[in-house]
Amino acid sequence: MCGIFAYLNFNVKKERRYILQVLFNGLRRLEYRGYDSAGIAIDSDNNSSSSSENSVASSPPLVFRREGNIESLVKSVYHEVAETDLNLEESFSIHAGIAHTRWATHGEPAPRNSHPQSSDDGNEFLVVHNGVITNYEVLKETLVRHGFTFESETDTEVIPKLAKFVFDKATEGGDRTVTFSQVVLEVMRHLEGAYALIFKSRHYPNELIACKRGSPLVLGVKELTEDASNGSLFHDDKFVSKNGNPKELFLSSDANALVEHTKKVLVIEDGEVVHLKDGGVSILKFDNDKGKHGNSFARPASVQRALSVLMMEVEQINKGKYEHYMQKEIHEQPESLKTTMRGRLIRGGSSKAKTVLLGGLKDHLKTIRRSRRIVFIGCGTSYNAALAARPILEELSGIPVTMEIASDLLDRQGPIYREDTAVFVSQSGETADTLLALEYALENGALCVGITNTVGSAIARHTHCGVHINAGCEIGVASTKAYTSQIVVMAMLALAIGGDTLSNQARREAIIDGLFDLPNTVREALKLDQEMKDLAKLLIAEQSLLVFGRGYNYATALEGALKVKEVALMHSEGILAGEMKHGPLALVDENLPIVVIATRDACFSKQQSVIQQLHARKGRLIVMCSKGDAAAVCAGGSGRVIEVPQVEDCLQPVINIIPLQLLAYHLTVLRGFNVDQPRNLAKSVTTQ
Ligand code: F6R
Repeated sequence: MCGIFAYLNFNVKKERRYILQVLFNGLRRLEYRGYDSAGIAIDSDNNSSSSSENSVASSPPLVFRREGNIESLVKSVYHEVAETDLNLEESFSIHAGIAHTRWATHGEPAPRNSHPQSSDDGNEFLVVHNGVITNYEVLKETLVRHGFTFESETDTEVIPKLAKFVFDKATEGGDRTVTFSQVVLEVMRHLEGAYALIFKSRHYPNELIACKRGSPLVLGVKELTEDASNGSLFHDDKFVSKNGNPKELFLSSDANALVEHTKKVLVIEDGEVVHLKDGGVSILKFDNDKGKHGNSFARPASVQRALSVLMMEVEQINKGKYEHYMQKEIHEQPESLKTTMRGRLIRGGSSKAKTVLLGGLKDHLKTIRRSRRIVFIGCGTSYNAALAARPILEELSGIPVTMEIASDLLDRQGPIYREDTAVFVSQSGETADTLLALEYALENGALCVGITNTVGSAIARHTHCGVHINAGCEIGVASTKAYTSQIVVMAMLALAIGGDTLSNQARREAIIDGLFDLPNTVREALKLDQEMKDLAKLLIAEQSLLVFGRGYNYATALEGALKVKEVALMHSEGILAGEMKHGPLALVDENLPIVVIATRDACFSKQQSVIQQLHARKGRLIVMCSKGDAAAVCAGGSGRVIEVPQVEDCLQPVINIIPLQLLAYHLTVLRGFNVDQPRNLAKSVTTQ
């Protein structure tokens, strides 16, 4: 949902070619967040000699904006460079560049709507933005009254224009003492909505300002001296290491784009304004209340924080031997599941019971057990994962579990009580709907638990407690490995909550054994790859696909259909098999392909009867069954069978989704679509 990136080199010579490469590579890493247009701003000439202390404006930065993906931007930039006398080898000892990849919210994908958005023809203030400014119309009206003209339909354009307005006002009497951060703090005072912003200005050459409220932003620091202290501390608003030390500083929507440069990062918090200047980093805390009382240039509090070290390797974010991220992430699942469970399953000695240890919940388990209700809240795949885990949580905890799609909970303002435990499930930890639902549940006094893949994400920070799924970086827009890790974490949550009852101990131990074996069983299921490719060849020209499931595998039906729909761009619907006779049966004929999930569990005989009824209507069936059950599920009928390894019923959704993920992947590739960048979608939906 838009990616922003910036690069500032200080006291280290870098050629323009290198600077462009860093910006483009940053955007490539963030492309999963949006890919309908992109842009960058770089310096037109060498500002290193001009003092940044309220200097006269430098030459206007160069702005390149392009509709389409990053590669279209890259091509057009090099093309434009070739046509002008811009020297790619010109070196800069200080240079501040900003970049953006867009998922359109306001205004069609077009250069004028791409970022950086600008204050005026002279690019006095430039801004890249991730998020949505909800009061932009009011701000725009005011700015128009003050003589500003707008060229885009974006909500973002008000920001650089507001910055220019503030700057012009502050300097109109010739007073040039206003600092870049003061200008930005004043701009923030007027903004409503969600944003992560990076500002670049001609008036403050070689400086960058970043700030955020609601959307993610990370600072990366690469110090280039031998004595660079590990985990430098901020002191007097600056790094402990001497400001003059050569360094490279990066700002990014996601740590993915930083790891190839540095592992030293700082997750910027809501309301913080980060000022990169003279090789130092100062952080100021924006206090909205102070601002409201009109003291616009009041000195805000400065913040000192330590850098943290990223636990991520570059290999994790490369495709390795795979052609696509989605393919890699599907095949990674035996490993990602192992990481999810590492250190959390305890298989004691002969006298000791098998248990689950979820450190992030240990102080809250008693409260959760006393809840009147557990409410699962999420969107898309994360919602489906919670749905898959619901039956085992109900069974082991005895607590009623209800399901809420985050946006629907908000639309209805559904009741949430102090006695509820609200569990927020989100791969990114940044999904706007889920975050707003979290705010709502916090206001209503519920205990809020986060289940996310992103350490330091908004959901991880704002919930009372939680569990990281540790599935590793998921880059493919279609969620795959996060889904299976989410189910496993929620199964472990059920085991932990139900861990104090003797009556279900045998059941719990069987599930724990099943969890230990799961990575190997998933590896077994992945052997269906070629079979799913063959099936995809048969389905390549279809318009539609239905997936029937029930019980534990109703979620599998929804999730399988979602995968096919979102990447293969084929209409696909997951249907609760119990509802078949209440409408969907009317669709059945000899042409429409239908996947029926009929693996062994308490619903097996009911699914056999569904299969019979579909056979009776000459349905074109693809039946997913447990290994060795092909004859049992196809008795008296034709059709294809997908045999999968059988595991504990509550873990079966982890196995059953694998062939459907593979099918969606192969269908997409065979149909000629971009599997990692599905049309109109983006990962991390940070706008409502
Ligand atoms: C589908 C998919 C989306 C996300 C949804 C929630 O493959 O990825 O449906 O699951 O946008 O995202 P998170 O889990 O980041 O909150």
